[in-house]
Amino acid sequence: MIKSEIEKAFNAQINREFFSSYLYLSMSAYFQDINLLGFAHWMRIQAQEELLHATKMFDFVLERGGRVILDKIDKPENTWQSPIAAFEAAYKHEIFITENINNLVSLAIEHKDYASNSFLQWFVNEQVEEEATADEILKKLKL
Ligand code: FEO
Repeated sequence: MIKSEIEKAFNAQINREFFSSYLYLSMSAYFQDINLLGFAHWMRIQAQEELLHATKMFDFVLERGGRVILDKIDKPENTWQSPIAAFEAAYKHEIFITENINNLVSLAIEHKDYASNSFLQWFVNEQVEEEATADEILKKLKL
């Protein structure tokens, strides 16, 4: 059985993952609008990945006997100054997500919730890739 404090933290993270999907979908629309269709496609794939992240956590909380409480999703930005600005925002957002995943891991360890800690390691590794990819594209764009 998952502890209520951890359940609450997972619910907050589920919301952030849904927001991430919303943000990248919004970026996809922005790129489509300025005719950068490759970037639009890339962002669309990212949006789908974020939905998977949210549902992975959703299923985990339920499997642990917890409750999933969905909250409203914030409105994402809908335009950026330039493609660089959009990728800077994406990179910054992934750093923010990494911080939150790390906080969740710390909480799990603090509560001796080893199942949550083990589950979260997938996300720890995933964040390394997510940050690296966004940073790589950003650096290429800056060139
Ligand atoms: Fe679900 Fe891009 O972090």
